[in-house]
Amino acid sequence: MTNEASKSLLEARSLSRHFLVRSGGTMIRKKRVVRAVDDVSLDLQSGRVTAVVGESGSGKSVLARMLARIVAPTSGELVLEATPVALKQKRTLAYASKVQLVLQDPFASINPVHRIRHSLERPLLIHGATKADVESLSEAVLARVSLDPPSRYLDRYPHELSGGQLQRVSIARALCVHPQVLLADEPISMLDVSVRLGVLNLLRGLCDEDRLAILYITHDIASARYIADEIVVMYAGQVVEQSNGTRLIDEPAHPYTRLLIASVPDPAAPTREQVAGQHTSAGSTVQEGCRFEPRCPHAMQICRTSEPPIFEVGEGHMARCWLHSDSKEVSDVALTVRQRGGAISKQ
Ligand SMILES: Nc1ncnc2c1ncn2[C@@H]1O[C@H](COP(=O)(O)OP(=O)(O)OP(=O)(O)O)[C@@H](O)[C@H]1O
Ligand code: SF4
Ligand SMILES: [Mg+2]
Repeated sequence: MTNEASKSLLEARSLSRHFLVRSGGTMIRKKRVVRAVDDVSLDLQSGRVTAVVGESGSGKSVLARMLARIVAPTSGELVLEATPVALKQKRTLAYASKVQLVLQDPFASINPVHRIRHSLERPLLIHGATKADVESLSEAVLARVSLDPPSRYLDRYPHELSGGQLQRVSIARALCVHPQVLLADEPISMLDVSVRLGVLNLLRGLCDEDRLAILYITHDIASARYIADEIVVMYAGQVVEQSNGTRLIDEPAHPYTRLLIASVPDPAAPTREQVAGQHTSAGSTVQEGCRFEPRCPHAMQICRTSEPPIFEVGEGHMARCWLHSDSKEVSDVALTVRQRGGAISKQ
C-alpha cells in the first residue's frame, strides 16, 4: 500500500433504496416496503479498498448498483469527484467510464458466443478508441490483469477459460474505459478456492499501483480483512459498523460483527461460535427497534422499541448499537450486559 494521499472519488450520502413488494396468496395481496438499503453513506477514495461485508439480502448488491447508477436511489446523493451527480438524469457515458461494476459470475457477464477479443473491443470503441488501436489496447488490458501472453486469450471463447481467467477478463473489460472507481460485487465467491487469492491480489494491485478506488463486496469478513483498508458491515440494509480493517477485526463493537468474526472457520479453535439465530437480514420491512434484535445475544429493552443511532466508538470507528450509548439510563444497563456478554469495546 502506497503513502500517496487518497482523495475522494465517489461519495454516497444517505443513500436509500426502498422497494414496494406484494406478498400473500392470490386472494389477499399485501403491499409492504422492503428497505433494501437505508441511509448508507460511504466515501470511496483513490488508492483505498473499502469492503462491504454482510450476509445474503443485506443490501450489498443494491448499494453497488446504485453507485453504478443501474438502480435509482429512493433518496440520497452521489458525489463524483466533488461534483454532485444529477440523479434525475440518465447515467452519462462519462459516469459509466469512471465507475465500473464487476459482477460475481464471469460466465454470466461475458457474452459466451463471442471471442474475448469482441468483449474488449466493444467498450474500447464506445469509449473512443480507434479501430487501429483496439488490438494493442486489448492486449495491454489483458497483460494488466496478468493474462500472459495476451494474444493467446484474445481469440478464445469464454468456455475455453477457467473461472479465474474469465474473472480476470471481466476486470480487464472494466479497465478498458480507464475507470477511477471499480465496484466488485463478490468477485471471488464463485471461483475455485485456489485462484481466489490471485484475484484479490490483482484488485489490491490495481488500487495501489493505478490508484483506483475499489469497493469490494463479500460475505467473507476474512477476505475483507485481507484486502481492505476500510470495512463496512451491513445488516438488513443498514451500516451497523464501520472502521479501518484492522481495528474492526481486533475490536469489533457491534454484536453482529462479533458473530461474523466468530463464524470464520478456524482450524485451531476447538469450537466455533455460529452466526446465531434465523437468517433475517433479507432487506428490512418497517419495524421498530434494532433490526438485529431478534438475533442479538445482548439485546436490552430499549433495543426492542428504539432504533439505535450511530455512535462513534473510537477514531473513525462507528457502531449502530445501544451498547455504546452515553445516556445514563441506557449505559447502566449496557454496562451490565457488556460485563455479562464479553468484550465489546466501549471507549
Ligand atoms: N428489484 C427488487 N424488488 C424488490 N426487492 C428487491 C429488489 N432487488 C433487491 N431486493 C431486495 O433487497 C434486499 C437486498 O438485496 P441485495 O441483492 O442487495 O442483497 P445482497 O446483500 O447483495 O445479497 P447476496 O449476498 O445474496 O447477493 C433483499 O431483500 C432483496 O430481496
Ligand atoms: S442495539 Fe441492542 S439488539 Fe441491537 S445490536 Fe445493539 S445490543 Fe443488540
Ligand atoms: Mg448480492
